[in-house]
Amino acid sequence: MERKKVLALLCVLWSVVCVMECVPRRRGRETCGIGFYNTSKGIECCQCPQGTYLVKDCTSPRGFPTCYQCEDGTYLDHANSQRKCELCSTCSESENKVKKSPCSLSSNTVCNCKDGHYCETEECKVCHHCSTCDFGVKVSCTPTSDTQCNENPTALVVVSVFVVCLIAGLVVIFFWKKKMFCFKSHEPPENVQVLEPLGDPDLEPFLPQIAEILGFKVVRSVVMHSGLLSKANIDNKVYDHPGDANEQAYQLLWAWYQKHGIEGACKQLCDTLTEMNMRVQAEKVHNLIKTRQSSKEEGQNGHI
Ligand SMILES: *[C@@H]1O[C@H](CO)[C@@H](O)[C@H](O)[C@H]1NC(C)=O
Repeated sequence: MERKKVLALLCVLWSVVCVMECVPRRRGRETCGIGFYNTSKGIECCQCPQGTYLVKDCTSPRGFPTCYQCEDGTYLDHANSQRKCELCSTCSESENKVKKSPCSLSSNTVCNCKDGHYCETEECKVCHHCSTCDFGVKVSCTPTSDTQCNENPTALVVVSVFVVCLIAGLVVIFFWKKKMFCFKSHEPPENVQVLEPLGDPDLEPFLPQIAEILGFKVVRSVVMHSGLLSKANIDNKVYDHPGDANEQAYQLLWAWYQKHGIEGACKQLCDTLTEMNMRVQAEKVHNLIKTRQSSKEEGQNGHI
């Protein structure tokens, strides 16, 4: 029994010694954790933690040196064996910077570019003014990248204007052609009474009187408008009978009639006159033929 008591007592004593000896040693090794440095005397010391600087080396191997907190306005952001802390940076207005977070013992001041400025590099010396765009922003400026602008739209404008002009041109041509077609069509224009059809009388007996009614200038216009005679042909008729406008008119009309032929000549003449806005002359010619026709019919009736 006595031996057992002595054994138990020894065990307790060993435990106490063990706690006093082993735990601090383990704690010391584990809490360093941040690495060692060698002193000038060749002793390995634990480094000072961030936010502190080295004042006095440790005296035993792997011991802890004396470290002081960094003073105001200085910092150290890593475990160290430095004798001095670093000076905190300032965010300078002249570098277009504003403070994002203040300096602490273990971290330097963090600066941001102020609004409308950017800096592409990590270690930013000066923030640059964001570019402005003449033709719209593609991607806005960020603190780390400049504005991206849209391309100069001149090419687009030129193409747009060209397309608009092309369409406008096509529309104009379309309506112009339509109008031309209307003029050229043989349908009488609205509001104009159609001349009563005369059948298809031979113009020949009327040619002298028609030449007289129309006069040289109108005959010449009608003939030119018909396109049946060449300019030289027309001029010849003039030279053949100098000074006699009536004869010139008659000869010209005769030449046209010859070229045109009997069939449809009367209608063609009246239509051409109407087309050339010479409605009065057209009516005169029309009446001349009509009167002659009716007097003929009366004459025939009289005979019967
Ligand atoms: C300190 O010096 C010793 C011997 O020169 C070397 O083995 C050890 O790696 C050094 N320690 C550090 C942290 O530089």
